[in-house]
Amino acid sequence: MKKVVLITGFTGMDGANLTEYLLKNTECEIYGMVRRSANPNFKNVKEFLDNSRVKIVYGDLIDLISIKNLVEKIQPDYLINLGANSFVGCSWDMPIQVFETNTLGVLYCLEAIKSVKPNCRFYQASSSEQFGDVLYSPQDIKHEWRPRSIYGCSKCSSHYLVKVYKESYGLYAVCGILFNHDGIKRGPEFVTQKIALGVANIHNQISKKQPITPIKLGNLDAKRDWSDSEDFVDGIWRMLNQEEFNQQLKEKYISKNFYTENIGWLFKEIKDYILASGETHSVKEFIELAFKEANIEGYWEGKGINEKYLISNYLIEEHNLNSNILVEVDPKFFRPAEVNILCGDSTPARKELNWQPKVSFQELVKKMVRHNINNPQV
Ligand code: NAP
Ligand code: GDD
Repeated sequence: MKKVVLITGFTGMDGANLTEYLLKNTECEIYGMVRRSANPNFKNVKEFLDNSRVKIVYGDLIDLISIKNLVEKIQPDYLINLGANSFVGCSWDMPIQVFETNTLGVLYCLEAIKSVKPNCRFYQASSSEQFGDVLYSPQDIKHEWRPRSIYGCSKCSSHYLVKVYKESYGLYAVCGILFNHDGIKRGPEFVTQKIALGVANIHNQISKKQPITPIKLGNLDAKRDWSDSEDFVDGIWRMLNQEEFNQQLKEKYISKNFYTENIGWLFKEIKDYILASGETHSVKEFIELAFKEANIEGYWEGKGINEKYLISNYLIEEHNLNSNILVEVDPKFFRPAEVNILCGDSTPARKELNWQPKVSFQELVKKMVRHNINNPQV
């Protein structure tokens, strides 16, 4: 029997990359849940729309009835919950919507599974943002939650809900605590894509001898543990099939055909995992590498809100440019409270699930900038 996967957040970066991964590496049938929208947002998933293994279904995480109806209709073997209001910056502007989507939405998924299909496996997209004001680096699974944003609080709450449902009802439910992962399908308001798009735009403007548009950013000193989403969706699938990828569990369970015999036995051994590169880099480092990839030489000048990344003088003369500012600070992008540094320890996922990211930080920056230079926005 082919496994059936229901993905929330199908149109997002991870949803699209996971769909591609499942099409390549499994025989699963995929149901991509999308919200009703006046202007559907299928940019990330357009290549899957004609695939007979992918079906679009309508639902909304803030509507319990829609989630329950879908679980009843589809009878999924996996419900992979990637849907969320995922932008930390706006969580102060719409706190209720963030909690409704990121926390109540998870409760609705868990209730639907519990009452309709308790042997459906559940994945929750937890976040390194839950570590918040960190006490030590790298952060491991034992690090306490010290969230600094409403988004972070919403993800801590949903993380605990998953734990309680798992322990109370014996669900195969897992939280992947994922550090920042980006890529060519990243939304434009996240800092990596904002920089990559801005650099590609400046590259294009210089080549056409047009005035250049500086990139306006907030906290340049924030440090993140950045990876490629395409590597992380592989880790998500491994977490959802732990007895297949973890040799110890494999020996213990597969040999005993536990699927049919004893579903309640396994859940106690199902673990949450961190996915991370183990490196941390500042927003400034991302900027420097991104401009380097576009062959635009620059240097830093000034401090605090006056700090700027300026284009090298010889390039101003060579291209007869109107301005020398490549990047400047705009306080409107500062957050009311900031997570200054994140760096994750993913040793257990590497050892037990045999998971290994392939794309380095340098390769990620290169890939995002190159993609935007080769596919200019119209
Ligand atoms: P993303 O690109 O912002 O995608 C979010 C998805 O959620 C979109 O498909 C969006 O649909 C959907 N969505 C939003 N509100 C919804 C609702 N009420 N009902 C149903 N769907 C809804 O996010 P991502 O980067 O792929 O992240 C996937 C998940 O991982 C999120 O839960 C995020 O919080 C979590 N996470 C991400 C990272 C990271 O660095 N990327 C790290 C840790 C955890 P529309 O297209 O209609 O807006
Ligand atoms: N978005 C944005 N825009 N961030 C900026 C800017 C800017 O103009 N300037 C500086 N930053 C800083 C932010 O203040 C933050 O410290 C850092 O860049 C990264 O911001 P984002 O790219 O928005 O990502 P995030 O780390 O807040 O959240 C992402 O990672 C989380 C996991 O740690 C998202 O993908 C979350 O959904 C995810 O849970």
